[in-house]
Amino acid sequence: MARKTLIAGNWKMNGLLADGVDLAKAVAAEVKKMGKPGCEFLVCPPFTLLTSVKKALRGAKVALGAQDVHFNPKGAHTGDISPLMLKDAGCQYVIVGHSERRADHKESNELINKKAAAAYEAGLKAIICIGETLAEREAGKTIDVCKAQILGSVPDNADGTNTVIAYEPVWAIGTGKTPTAEDVEEVHAAVRKVLAKKLGKGNANKMRILYGGSVKPGNAKEFLSLPDVDGALIGGASLKADDFIAIAKNSGQC
Ligand code: PGA
Repeated sequence: MARKTLIAGNWKMNGLLADGVDLAKAVAAEVKKMGKPGCEFLVCPPFTLLTSVKKALRGAKVALGAQDVHFNPKGAHTGDISPLMLKDAGCQYVIVGHSERRADHKESNELINKKAAAAYEAGLKAIICIGETLAEREAGKTIDVCKAQILGSVPDNADGTNTVIAYEPVWAIGTGKTPTAEDVEEVHAAVRKVLAKKLGKGNANKMRILYGGSVKPGNAKEFLSLPDVDGALIGGASLKADDFIAIAKNSGQC
């Protein structure tokens, strides 16, 4: 039941062509130096950089992902990008339901569920994000919120091959604040329990659950060595190749 650690970079709305290509090349060079890393690497640049980053990653064991997707394969949806387009651009993954999309674009669990299901149809893996706000944490509702998000946003045909869950406490994203390792393990174990109820124990045990929120080289080991933490979704620190690679190296899993 080995779950391969996933080190995923979410570049968010950062990077013009030259920076993005330089960053991808630097990551690719470092990953190549690692020979056969024990973990899987992924970068998720903005849509405009997907094809050039794909080229820059050539020959390196680094997967390509996007940060969002529409649930329709094509049609009259101005400004949106379809799962088939992402597949065509060389993506293997797509992030759905990031808290910034839930907040900025009022995305519901139902919509995120449709996006993930559409991603599977196109042969993409979905990274489905969940996580509580500070108010929810302070009200003691962390597990309930995560449970509701899982039940609502994870499709019924999700399994360990097409889905990764990312637990990202909203208050830890980009703030430098993090939960304790005990808190993270408690939530991840609870999430796996909910997944087991929804999808069966076998699927739940094969599904990777990433931690995200102010992951840095200095705290990588603390979080990534927890039994139910199967990798990291990294924002700010993924914009520097050295930090991104240091997280992988320090994690003890790669
Ligand atoms: P951060 O972002 O690493 O900058 O906190 C994580 C994320 O939002 O995926």
